[in-house]
Amino acid sequence: MPREIKVVSDNAALNRVAAQEFQNAAQSAIADHGRFSVALSGGNTPRNIYSLLAQEYKSSLPWNKIHIFFGDERSVPPDHPDSNFRMANDALLSHVVIPPENVHRIRAELDPEAAAKDYESQLREFFRPANDAWPRFDLIMLGLGEDGHTASLFPGSTALVDTSRWVTSTWVQRMKTYRITLTYPVLNHAAEVEFLVSGAGKAQVLRDVLQPQEGMAFPAQRVKPENGRLLWLVDQDAANLIRVET
Ligand code: 6PG
Repeated sequence: MPREIKVVSDNAALNRVAAQEFQNAAQSAIADHGRFSVALSGGNTPRNIYSLLAQEYKSSLPWNKIHIFFGDERSVPPDHPDSNFRMANDALLSHVVIPPENVHRIRAELDPEAAAKDYESQLREFFRPANDAWPRFDLIMLGLGEDGHTASLFPGSTALVDTSRWVTSTWVQRMKTYRITLTYPVLNHAAEVEFLVSGAGKAQVLRDVLQPQEGMAFPAQRVKPENGRLLWLVDQDAANLIRVET
């Protein structure tokens, strides 16, 4: 399936379109197989999308059929200011009626490797794949870092080459910290992957990732769902340096 690049006017429009996309994906997944599995992105970009979902989709979405996962997590407890879970919980999860068992947190208070193993066993319990099949998330939301990382697949990290596990832990030299992240095979088996990119600060890396110069390689470029939709949802400030075929 070819990648889609959707350019919207500004950050507020990106939040609105992303929230609508979340609802669309949820409704089609639930109609198809009775539940919606979504991995949330961390970082700052999605925060206001989650708030919008809490404000405007609180009663229109069947939260009891929605299962929330995380694409990655920092190696901190859930109440730490850096925690992706805490951000999503403050912006969304604490404002909607979602059964606690539907929120599948990366237990990053454990040591990184134990957290990765624990999260993978949570995923296996939920997806119960036949034989050695990969899990198929209905939607994985991702951000894009200025160094071309996504989730916690950072340039030069061991996570980039761990393609046998569903979840891996990795030391991130630039940040001097461990991270826990879904691996490329899991991202690339999703039914839909949606990158959310906003702001002029991302214009250069977005151009480099979408229209790479010779020999350029960034982790985000290796996210290519084998049998799924790849949507780049970007605002005009981030899209300033790319040519989008209309
Ligand atoms: C994280 C995210 C990470 C993020 C990018 C973009 O844990 O931080 O998973 O991949 O999406 O770094 O972050 P911003 O949205 O804050 O620019």
